[in-house]
Amino acid sequence: MSVQEKNLEVNRVKTIPYRLYADPSILAIEQEKIFAKSWQYVGHVSQLQKTGDFFTCEVAGEPLVVVYGKDEQIRAFYNVCPHRATKLEKQAEGNKKILQCGYHGWTFNLDGSLHRAPNFKTAAPFCEGEACLRSVRLEIQASMIFVNLDDHARPLSESYGDFFDSLQDLTFLGELKKVWSKSRVIKTNWKAFMDNYLECDHCPIAHPSFTATLDMSQYKVIACENYSVQGTMVKPEKTLGSIELNKAEFQGGRFYWLWPNMAVTVYPGSGNMTVIRMVPIDHETTLGIYDVFFRDENLTKEDQDLLQFMEQVREEDIELVELAQIGFKSKAFAYGYLSPTENGVLQFHQMVREALGIEE
Ligand code: FES
Ligand SMILES: [Fe+2]
Repeated sequence: MSVQEKNLEVNRVKTIPYRLYADPSILAIEQEKIFAKSWQYVGHVSQLQKTGDFFTCEVAGEPLVVVYGKDEQIRAFYNVCPHRATKLEKQAEGNKKILQCGYHGWTFNLDGSLHRAPNFKTAAPFCEGEACLRSVRLEIQASMIFVNLDDHARPLSESYGDFFDSLQDLTFLGELKKVWSKSRVIKTNWKAFMDNYLECDHCPIAHPSFTATLDMSQYKVIACENYSVQGTMVKPEKTLGSIELNKAEFQGGRFYWLWPNMAVTVYPGSGNMTVIRMVPIDHETTLGIYDVFFRDENLTKEDQDLLQFMEQVREEDIELVELAQIGFKSKAFAYGYLSPTENGVLQFHQMVREALGIEE
C-alpha cells in the first residue's frame, strides 16, 4: 500500500473554536455546507443482491431510499412521495416489487418512474417520461455505496485522492458481507468523535490493550487528499490473530478517515472491514453507526475476538468524547491546541474552517 501525502500548514496549532461543538445553530450550517455537499457512505453492495432489495437512510437530514432495480442498477431517491410529500418507504430495509405510498396509494417502479396514481384518472403529467421520484447521485467504489445530494459535486472517484487505489491490495473486499451492525447514541458533537479517531496520542492512556501489541514508536498519521490513514507495525515479538508477521507498514491495521464523518478500518486477519459513520442528531448528540464486514457470516473464534476487541476500544473512546463535550460547553477555554502528531485532526479542522468559511 502506498498513498500520496498532502502538505499541511504546520504552524497553525489551535483547534477550531469550541463554539462549533456547543452552539446549536452551527449544525444547520454544517448540514448545508458539509453533509449536503460531500459523498456520504450509505451501505454496501452485499445489502442489495436481488431485484427489489432496498434500504432507507438519512443524509443531511434528508430521507433517502436506495433500491436495486430490475435492470440490476442500484439507484438512490429522496424517500418522499411527489404527490404530497409523505415519507414513502417506512421500513429500514426489505424487498418490494414496487414502492407504495401509504397515504393515497401512489405506486412507483424500482427505477423511480410512476406506476399508478389511483386518485388521478391518468398518470400525473409531471411524471411522464422521467423518474417520478426525485433521484440522488450515487456511486459505488470498492463495493461501498455512496450518495451525494449536490448535483455539482466532483465524482466520488475523484474526490478522495488515491484512497480507493490504496485498497487494491485488499483483494478480499469484493467478497465481504455485512455480518454485524450496531447504532449507538453518543452524547457528543459529531466532530468530537472524528477528532478522537484522527489521533492516537490518547491510545497509550486510553487503550492499553490496543497499544500492547503495536509498535507505537512507529505510529503515524498520513494526511492525504480529503482523507487520512494511520497505523503502525505490530511489535516484533507479538502477533495479531494468526497473521504471519512481516515488516510491511500498517500490518497492525489501517485506520482510514474520509471527509467529513466516515472511517474505514481494516484489521489483520482473514479479511475484515468496519465502516463507521457519525451522523449528527443535534449539536451535542450523534448517532454512531458501525457496520462490520467479514467474508463469512459464520464467524471464527478469531473474528469474534476481533469484534469484542473493537467494541472495547469504542467504549473507551466514547467515554472520552462525552467528557470532551462537557468541556466544549464550559466557559473555561475557547479553543484547544494540537500536538505535532495530531496532524490528522489539523487536516480535519482546516477542512471544517474552509467548508464553513471561518478563519478562527
Ligand atoms: S402523499 Fe403519497 S400518494 Fe398522496
Ligand atoms: Fe481511541
